[in-house]
Amino acid sequence: MERLQKVIAQTGYCSRRKAEELIQGGHVEVNGKRITEMGVKVSFEDDITIDGNAINLKEDKVYYLLNKPRGIITSTNDEKNRKTVVDLIKETKRIYPVGRLDYDTTGVLLLTNDGELTNLLIHPSNNVEKVYIAKLKGIPTKEELIRLGKGVIIDGKKTSKSRAKIKKIDKKSNTSIVELVIHEGRNHQVKKMFQAIGYDVIKLKRESFASLTVNDIKSGEYRELSVKEVKRLYALVKQK
Ligand code: URA
Repeated sequence: MERLQKVIAQTGYCSRRKAEELIQGGHVEVNGKRITEMGVKVSFEDDITIDGNAINLKEDKVYYLLNKPRGIITSTNDEKNRKTVVDLIKETKRIYPVGRLDYDTTGVLLLTNDGELTNLLIHPSNNVEKVYIAKLKGIPTKEELIRLGKGVIIDGKKTSKSRAKIKKIDKKSNTSIVELVIHEGRNHQVKKMFQAIGYDVIKLKRESFASLTVNDIKSGEYRELSVKEVKRLYALVKQK
C-alpha cells in the first residue's frame, strides 16, 4: 500500500504536489468515495478517478531518448498549436518530457510515462548530471569560468557548484564553445548563468543527461531505452 498522492504521481498523471492539490480540492475518488485528506493509503488494485476519469495504474512504462531539434517546444501541448517534442514520437500512450529544454536548445531529452522515475530524475536532491555545450558571444577568461563554477546568482539564488571549460575559441568571430556541467534544472539555467558572467549564449545543446547521450541518434529522431538503461537510471536516483 502506498499513499494516494504517490500512486497518482507514479502513473505520470501529474507531480506529487499537484496530486495533493487535486486531493485537497475534492477531485479524487477511491473506489467511489471522495478523498480530501492526505495520508490515505491505496494499492494498485483500487479504482482511482480524478474528476470522474479513471486513471490507469497498470499501464506499461515506455522510455524514449530524443535528439531534440531546434524550434520545437518541450511541452505536452501548446495553446498556439505548435509542434511539441511529444508529437515527434509515435506512441499512443500519454508520455511527457523529463524536464525542459528551450525552444532553441537541441540535444538529449528523455520522454516517458513513468511518473515515479520522472519525479526522481528532476528532484533537485538527486543531483542528476547534465552536460551542456554552449556557443557564446565572446570568450570568457579562466577567472570568469572559475567564478561561474563556484556559483553565480540567478533569479535571486546562487547556483550550486558546476564545472565549465573552454572547448574551442574563435578569435576572428569572437565566439567560443564552452562545456558546462550542472546538477540543477532551473529555468533557462545555462543561459542565465553565462549572462551572469557577461556572455550571451548563441547556441545551446544538451550533450548528456544522467550520462545518456544522443551521439547515435539523428536530430529529430529517437530510440527506446533498454531495460538495462532504465535500471541504471533508477539505481542512480534511488541509491541516495
Ligand atoms: N538551460 C537553458 O538556459 N536552456 C535550456 O534549454 C536548458 C538549460
